[in-house]
Amino acid sequence: MSALTVLDFPKRKAAHSPLSMLTCYDYTYARMLNQSAVDLLLVGDSVAMIVHGFQSTIHADVNMMALHTAAVRRGAPNKFIVADMPFLSVRRGLEFAMDAVTRLMQAGANAIKIEGANGQLDLMRHIAESGVPVMGHLGLTPQSVEALGGHKVQGRTEGAAATLLNTAHDVAATGAFALVLECVPAILATRVTKELSIPVIGIGAGSGTDGQVLVLQDMLGCNSAFRPKFLRHYADHEQTVVNAAGRFHQDVSSRAYPNIAESYA
Ligand code: KIV
Repeated sequence: MSALTVLDFPKRKAAHSPLSMLTCYDYTYARMLNQSAVDLLLVGDSVAMIVHGFQSTIHADVNMMALHTAAVRRGAPNKFIVADMPFLSVRRGLEFAMDAVTRLMQAGANAIKIEGANGQLDLMRHIAESGVPVMGHLGLTPQSVEALGGHKVQGRTEGAAATLLNTAHDVAATGAFALVLECVPAILATRVTKELSIPVIGIGAGSGTDGQVLVLQDMLGCNSAFRPKFLRHYADHEQTVVNAAGRFHQDVSSRAYPNIAESYA
């Protein structure tokens, strides 16, 4: 049983108690995050970029998501885990979508996340009514990066902001239990958060939301060159790894490693 259940989300919103969510893709980090106080983990389709080195999330598929979800569940038995429905998995008919939901839930997810809303509200309602908690995702939806013309802040014009606000209401009305808002002006995110009865978890959406999510490797500083405005580095993991690997190399070269205590008699 995870520490958090879907029933806690409205309570946390009512109590103004912010939710912390981090992405996680593998057993090793999941094991560490399981020991942390972070509220929930997201097996994001950003796994395609962060772990597999692709340029966008469109390379994630159901097999990839299920494999990583299962690994995260093995490492984090006590965390509420959300798994991303990958690129076009909700646009290929009911059977394909429900098969994908089945795979992710059987891999260990507590909920699934779906990007966008247009043309898929009925499906989101169907999944929620099937007993699977659904998290929405609006604003910058990276699976639509080609249509959006890049990873850009969304909802900047009055019209775009009004559309996003209405769409957020539509998503909540499908029975979604929470909503991610990515890269939107803080004032818009705050308005959506105030109007919706479900928790809104922001990334690049300011401080007025009901919670925050970051990509784990980004907040750990695994790529020091990646510095979007919203990102705070909580560690310098890149230098830590480069330095440790350098010291290992030096010790091997000088035969300082292994020493007698590190060798079997
Ligand atoms: O895949 C992901 O990492 C995400 C977060 C950015 C919210 O969807």
